[in-house]
Amino acid sequence: MTELLCVRNLKVSLKAPSTSREGWVLRGMNLTVLAGERVALVGESGCGKSVTALSILRLLPRPPMEISSGQIEFKGRDFGNLTPEQWREIRGREIGMVFQEPVSSLNPVMSVGEQIAETLRNHSELSAGEIRARTLSLLARVGLPGPTRLRSQYPHQLSGGMCQRVMIAMAVACGPSLLIADEPTTALDVTVQTQILDLLFRMTEEQRLAILLITHNLNIVRGHADRVVILYLGLVVEEGVPDEIFDHPQHPYTEGLLAALPEVSRKGRTLYNIPGVVPSPFEAITGCAFADRCPKVEKKCRQSMPPLIETRKGHQVRCFYPSGR
Ligand SMILES: Nc1ncnc2c1ncn2[C@@H]1O[C@H](COP(=O)(O)OP(=O)(O)OP(=O)(O)O)[C@@H](O)[C@H]1O
Ligand code: SF4
Ligand SMILES: [Mg+2]
Repeated sequence: MTELLCVRNLKVSLKAPSTSREGWVLRGMNLTVLAGERVALVGESGCGKSVTALSILRLLPRPPMEISSGQIEFKGRDFGNLTPEQWREIRGREIGMVFQEPVSSLNPVMSVGEQIAETLRNHSELSAGEIRARTLSLLARVGLPGPTRLRSQYPHQLSGGMCQRVMIAMAVACGPSLLIADEPTTALDVTVQTQILDLLFRMTEEQRLAILLITHNLNIVRGHADRVVILYLGLVVEEGVPDEIFDHPQHPYTEGLLAALPEVSRKGRTLYNIPGVVPSPFEAITGCAFADRCPKVEKKCRQSMPPLIETRKGHQVRCFYPSGR
C-alpha cells in the first residue's frame, strides 16, 4: 500500500503564558498512515493526541504552540510551505475532519442541508441540482432518517448523535483520502458511541478512505483498526497490529493501559490504575518519560531515552526492557 501521510520526528513546543519557559508537547513524533489504512492513536489524557492531529492540519493554537522541527508529508507533498488557499483545499477536500463536539462544530444558524451543500460548493464544481441530490444521498448514507425533512432542520433540533452523523457526512462529502477523527464519540451517550464508531469504520471501508482515529475506546480499536499507535508524553512508545499489541504488549505503559480495561481485569477485582500522572510538558526529562511510573524501571532508564525498535515484524517498542523478550 502507498504511504498517504508521513509525520517525521515532529517536535512541538509550548510557551508558558506568563514566563518565557518552554515545554514540549510533541518530542519527536513519528506516524505513518497508508492509503486506506485505519490507524488508531491512543494514550492517556495530555499525551499529545489532539496536538498531533492539529499539527497535521496546521490548526495548532499559535501561540502558545509552535512546530519547532520535523516534517509532515501528505501524498508525497511537504506540508511545510502551503499557502492559506492550498490549506483550505487540503482541509475540506483531501482530509476530512471529525471532532469531539458535534453540536458546537456545526453552525447554529444554518440548516444542516445548507451546511453540507456549502462544503460541496466550496470544494467541487457540482451544479445546484447535483449538490441537492448529493446532500440528500449523504444524509441517507450516514443513517439519518427522512433526509428530505432533515435537510432543512437546524443543529439544535437534532440529538448529539445525529449532529455527529451530519459532521461525518460533511467530512466525507468531497471524497477525501484521509479522515482525522479526534475522539468523535466522547460527547455522546454510551449507546450512541458504538453506532457512530461503526458508521465511521463502515464509511471508511466503503470509500477506501484512510482514518486516523484518536480514541480512548480500546475495545473498538481491537475490532476495527489495522494498526494501533500508543503515545506517551509526545512520543510513540509502542506500535503494531491490534492482536499483537493486545495479546503481546511489550511496553509497561501499554500493559498498564490494557490492565486498566474493565474487560481485561478479572471479575470482582478492583480495576488497575497506572500509578502517578502524565508529566507536564514543562518537566525536564532525560531518560525514559515513563520511568517515574514504571514498575520495571532500572538505572539505565533514567540515563538515556530508549529508542523505538522493532522487536517482531511490524511491532515496535520504545523500552530498554520490553516484555516477552
Ligand atoms: N491550547 C493549549 N494551551 C496550552 N497547553 C495546551 C493547549 N492544548 C493542549 N495543551 C497541552 O498540550 C499537551 C498535549 O495536549 P493534547 O490536547 O494533545 O492531549 P490529548 O492526548 O489530546 O488529551 P485528551 O485525551 O485529554 O484529549 C497537554 O499537556 C496539554 O495540557
Ligand atoms: S525504558 Fe525502563 S522505565 Fe521506560 S518503560 Fe522501559 S523499563 Fe520502564
Ligand atoms: Mg485530545
